[in-house]
Amino acid sequence: MIRKYRKSDLSSCAAVFCEAFGAEPWYEEWTQELAETRIAELLGTPNSVGYVYVEDGEICGLMAGRRLTYLHGEEYMIDEFCVVPSLQRTGVGGKLMEHACKALEADGVAAIVLNTTKSFPAERFYRKNGFERVHGMIFMRKEL
Ligand SMILES: CC(C)(COP(=O)(O)OP(=O)(O)OC[C@H]1O[C@@H](n2cnc3c(N)ncnc32)[C@H](O)[C@@H]1OP(=O)(O)O)[C@@H](O)C(=O)NCCC(=O)NCCS
Repeated sequence: MIRKYRKSDLSSCAAVFCEAFGAEPWYEEWTQELAETRIAELLGTPNSVGYVYVEDGEICGLMAGRRLTYLHGEEYMIDEFCVVPSLQRTGVGGKLMEHACKALEADGVAAIVLNTTKSFPAERFYRKNGFERVHGMIFMRKEL
């Protein structure tokens, strides 16, 4: 079952997030507390929209994003998207994406945008789901 994120999902979603990004190819050292803080920040704004994939009563996938005003309509920015490693490549992410696309389109959202790491497996997932690289754009960062 796929449904919208609720505040009471925070701890389960953070656990999924830690597991997914702690594994190959990311190996990121998230703690439960840090992940909860990030997800609460992302999904705690008035324009936040999150979706969870629930199987046998357990959350095993999460999409966290925000609807943001842009020139020709609203865009949905995917901030985080993950599936527990044990269920990756079984179609869970694809179903979450399909559900989100349909729900957001029905709600008047014009496009979905995201940043991801070039040549990581996720790039292949997004391309398979109809996303295209935006040429002429680069993602920049300055260490402070
Ligand atoms: C990216 C992610 C959300 C996709 O969800 P999923 O449930 O695995 O995706 P699906 O099963 O619907 O689709 C699988 C397709 O995605 C791509 N893909 C996903 N994971 C892959 C991997 N580890 N290696 C190669 N291709 C992969 C492939 O095209 C694959 O199709 P295939 O199995 O026929 O080759 C999930 O793999 C995940 O959580 N990865 C770790 C976290 C992450 O990278 N998040 C996105 C960061 S921007």
